[in-house]
Amino acid sequence: MSATKRSVTVIGLGPMGQAMVRAFLKAGVAVTVWNRSPEKAEAMVELGATRAGTVAAALDANELVVLSLTHYDAMYTVLEPAADRLRGKVIANLSSDSPEKARRGAAWVRERGAEFLSGGVMSAGDNIEHPASYIFYSGPREVFDAHAELLLPLSPQEYLGADDGLAQVFYQGLLTIFHPWLLAFDQATAMIERAGHDIAQFVPFAVRSNAAFPYFMEQFSVENQQGGWADVPGLRMMDAGAQHIIDASEEVGVDATLSHTAQAFWRKAVTASAEADRAVSTYELMRG
Ligand SMILES: NC(=O)c1ccc[n+]([C@@H]2O[C@H](COP(=O)([O-])OP(=O)(O)OC[C@H]3O[C@@H](n4cnc5c(N)ncnc54)[C@H](OP(=O)(O)O)[C@@H]3O)[C@@H](O)[C@H]2O)c1
Repeated sequence: MSATKRSVTVIGLGPMGQAMVRAFLKAGVAVTVWNRSPEKAEAMVELGATRAGTVAAALDANELVVLSLTHYDAMYTVLEPAADRLRGKVIANLSSDSPEKARRGAAWVRERGAEFLSGGVMSAGDNIEHPASYIFYSGPREVFDAHAELLLPLSPQEYLGADDGLAQVFYQGLLTIFHPWLLAFDQATAMIERAGHDIAQFVPFAVRSNAAFPYFMEQFSVENQQGGWADVPGLRMMDAGAQHIIDASEEVGVDATLSHTAQAFWRKAVTASAEADRAVSTYELMRG
């Protein structure tokens, strides 16, 4: 081991923090860990990490400190008691939270003399080695550039810009798409199964329909950049279509809450269009 061996501290050892420790160790990076529940840190020691007895010791161990916590509030709980050790450190908070909370967290860290980067881990679950996984970063470009190589074992990187909240804006934007997709997939497959059919026969068609999504995204992004587009016959067609999905689900006892919500949006747009005497899109309604 040379004197120039690369090293980091990882604080927070949930499924994601543990995946990060494994990725660093695999890349030959020495890792010091700290976790509120010590048994998770012990498990990482068995893989080759060093366990710090206190947060202060974890901060003292390395310049670069990666946080993988449930939310930004946990950062204050963890770092506050050792705040006098933050000076000169680089905190890369890769926890999920709102953009505004990330900005406040960045200011809090900088007030205590450390550099700060915010990250949003766009991984396939906690599989950061999956080819589709990558991490959004935002914060000062020079801080990112200075530490990008050391952070690289975690996943490919997408640096977005200087706004400390930007990584969370994009991360939460993508999760906004992902959450209803997950629930819609549950509803669709439950409907297939409760109708007495085979989910395995259905899934290849669900995968195939994904191929059309980039086309729709391109179309809608052009329209939404101009304020959104709709025509009233199209809105009425979507309302009727939502009713068909609701019926197909509820006929076999499947919860169609998600489709009722979708239908409520189409109906709201139909009503708003009648009131405004022009077509009002769902984008315009949501954007406010
Ligand atoms: N897991 C995924 O698939 C995934 C994917 C992408 C992004 N993310 C994001 O990555 C972050 C970490 O994910 P995760 O799944 O590992 O989350 P997690 O299971 O919630 O664990 C995060 C860590 O936060 C610690 N923690 C929470 N509240 C704390 C507090 N008040 N004081 C001290 N420690 C506290 C936990 O400590 P204890 O062990 O003591 O409970 C644990 O080590 C989250 O922001 C998550 O949204 C996760």
